[in-house]
Amino acid sequence: MDVRISIIGTGFVGAATAFSLVQAGSASEIVLVDIDKQKAEGEAMDLLHGVSFVQPVDVRAGELADCRGSRIVIYTAGVNQKPGETRLDLAARNLAILRQTLPPLIAACPDALFLFVANPVDILTYAALKWSGLPAEQVIGSGTVLDSSRLRMHLGQHFGFDARNVHAYVVGEHGDTELVLWSLANVAGADLSHVDPLGRPPLNREQVFADVKNAAYRIIERKGATYYAIALAVRRIVDAVLRDERSILTVSSLVNGPYGLHDVCLSLPCLVTSEGRKQILELPITAEEQIALNASAVHLATFSKELGL
Ligand code: 2OP
Repeated sequence: MDVRISIIGTGFVGAATAFSLVQAGSASEIVLVDIDKQKAEGEAMDLLHGVSFVQPVDVRAGELADCRGSRIVIYTAGVNQKPGETRLDLAARNLAILRQTLPPLIAACPDALFLFVANPVDILTYAALKWSGLPAEQVIGSGTVLDSSRLRMHLGQHFGFDARNVHAYVVGEHGDTELVLWSLANVAGADLSHVDPLGRPPLNREQVFADVKNAAYRIIERKGATYYAIALAVRRIVDAVLRDERSILTVSSLVNGPYGLHDVCLSLPCLVTSEGRKQILELPITAEEQIALNASAVHLATFSKELGL
């Protein structure tokens, strides 16, 4: 396997993502780029020292130009939320960084899949698409893949089931206007209302949704940042691409038509293949879910316009 993956930004998320990819044996080469070159070098050294415990991988620090030939570019560069900040509060600062870093990245690896993780991920994904002119399937964001995992974790704990057997999606903004497609949530194909909670109290959907939507804020208050689960979410997306798994994941991508939405990046259940976001699945959501999805799209589109995108 000759796969180079470049990670832009070696802060909490970038470093945890690199560690996750090294553990999984996802790539034969990982290039770490950071404005703090010493940090990138330190992370590369620290990861390389464990290489005898995992599949062979070369991890090295580099410049943006060293990303040439990358199969996937994972973009985590930027400031992260401080307690009390929303993801959208980061937009102006992180767009300014993207404005600088995107052109040399596109020049170095125009055929790479660009996977945005830095927040606000929907806005950065949209900006990268506008500024690069690359095809929509080639520029995606981690979106609500993490939020959907948080939802599946809570539901799995509630019902006493393996979270991998709980199928439920968070869609829309990776942020405060996200929503749960409760009408499609199921365990073993059965609607959640038909699943016996095995003596547990009835499912409190409002509380579960609040716990999912506010998860990042609660973690940031306690430890300053989130990085393990998002690193695992990114690895999941990377594996789906590299193995051409044709997985259904709620990545953020440009929506033009499905669910009546146009010219906005947000998360929906998507078919993820070696080509990136191959297709957005049009599923039978309820009128109430459509209204909430529309509101999320309008929120993101309005914010994008205010930013001049
Ligand atoms: C998260 O949801 C902060 O977007 C990051 O954990």
